[in-house]
Amino acid sequence: MSHSHSAASAPSVLVTGGAGYIGTHTMVELLNAGHNVVCIDNFSNSSPEAVRRVEKITGRQVTLVEGDIRDTDTLQVLLSQRPIDRVIHFAALKAVGESVSRPLAYYDNNIGGTLALLAACQQAGVRRFVFSSSATVYGNPQALPLTEDAPLSAVNPYGATKLMVERILEDMCHADPQFAVVSLRYFNPVGAHDSGTIGEDPRDIPNNLFPFITQVAVGKRPHLNVFGNDWPTHDGTGVRDYIHVVDLALGHLAALDYSAQQSGYAAVNLGTGRGTSVLDMVHAFEHATGQRVPHVVAPRRAGDIAACWADPTRAERLLNWRAQRSLEQMCASGWTWQQGNPDGYRRS
Ligand code: NAD
Ligand code: WQD
Repeated sequence: MSHSHSAASAPSVLVTGGAGYIGTHTMVELLNAGHNVVCIDNFSNSSPEAVRRVEKITGRQVTLVEGDIRDTDTLQVLLSQRPIDRVIHFAALKAVGESVSRPLAYYDNNIGGTLALLAACQQAGVRRFVFSSSATVYGNPQALPLTEDAPLSAVNPYGATKLMVERILEDMCHADPQFAVVSLRYFNPVGAHDSGTIGEDPRDIPNNLFPFITQVAVGKRPHLNVFGNDWPTHDGTGVRDYIHVVDLALGHLAALDYSAQQSGYAAVNLGTGRGTSVLDMVHAFEHATGQRVPHVVAPRRAGDIAACWADPTRAERLLNWRAQRSLEQMCASGWTWQQGNPDGYRRS
């Protein structure tokens, strides 16, 4: 509790879902930049330990509220008791496959949760909002790189929730000219904070490539399944735009600054503009860490696309932000986290 007086009385940023993978990294950068942070999380996919690590890295405290954004009373109390002037909204369910088998859970949590949050913000007069959208809103891309004006489509319930929330936020901006929203369309966030003390902590078998690779490298899984080597890409494996999670976190600070100066709605890609295949990633990881990643070719995964990468120029123009960290830094930091925390936050 070593806050200076002015910091303690300055308005706070409300971070929903702040205990999660991207939220923790963003809270570190917010605290390092001098912001006060209030975090609400129901720990459905995270643990309080993650927030304690954020405090340890920064030497600052987070005001942590254990609660669900769908709980209107909790939100009302939270927003009325504290001087909050902006929101970064991460809280959502994010597993694409699970969204197909449990659509109601996804629509309820991701759309219902956002509606409850927006109603509370409206009541409290909070008008600056940064939303975690996703490159998934582009569906199966017709042309690359993807600009924000590319056609949008939902190919699964998870994607439908992101598309619908973007639409709701745009409508809010039309209804209230003072409302300022930036929807950040993330490409593929990977890696971890340089301290190696926070990182991605999948509860089950990882769905995503990068945490699967780190679990193979640490010996938790025998090999990586490469989902198809007959895609129309340079080596036949799927191509994505991987972005270091710390670069992504810094994009949120840039978006907050922008929303303080500009009202209205903006959708902005956060990516590097570079495409990396599955095999490129395996080789980069092996090179950066000295670990071998055994892999076998497996059938294509249902719902996958061949390739997807960002045109990041709008982020540069509007937010004055660009990704700085290399693929090697993504691999090295992700490996430091995995090695030091083989069971994520469960063993510390
Ligand atoms: P995460 O699961 O690690 O973090 C989400 C956090 O929200 C978790 O701590 C979870 O407990 C919390 N949460 C979920 N529902 C809640 C609710 N109703 N009330 C309160 N807290 C709740 O996920 P992440 O990777 O950090 O993703 C953050 C956001 O970014 C999500 O909206 C996700 O859809 C989006 N996104 C993620 C990726 C990615 O690949 N990680 C890509 C694009 C977009
Ligand atoms: C990357 C590449 C796979 C795992 C998904 C969601 C998206 C999102 C991020 C939130 C693909 C291949 C993967 C494995 C593999 N999040 N792969 N073996 O599919 O781009 O995006 O997560 O908004 O909505 O769709 O990322 O990491 O799952 O896959 O070969 O074990 O790695 O086929 O080519 P994706 P990913």
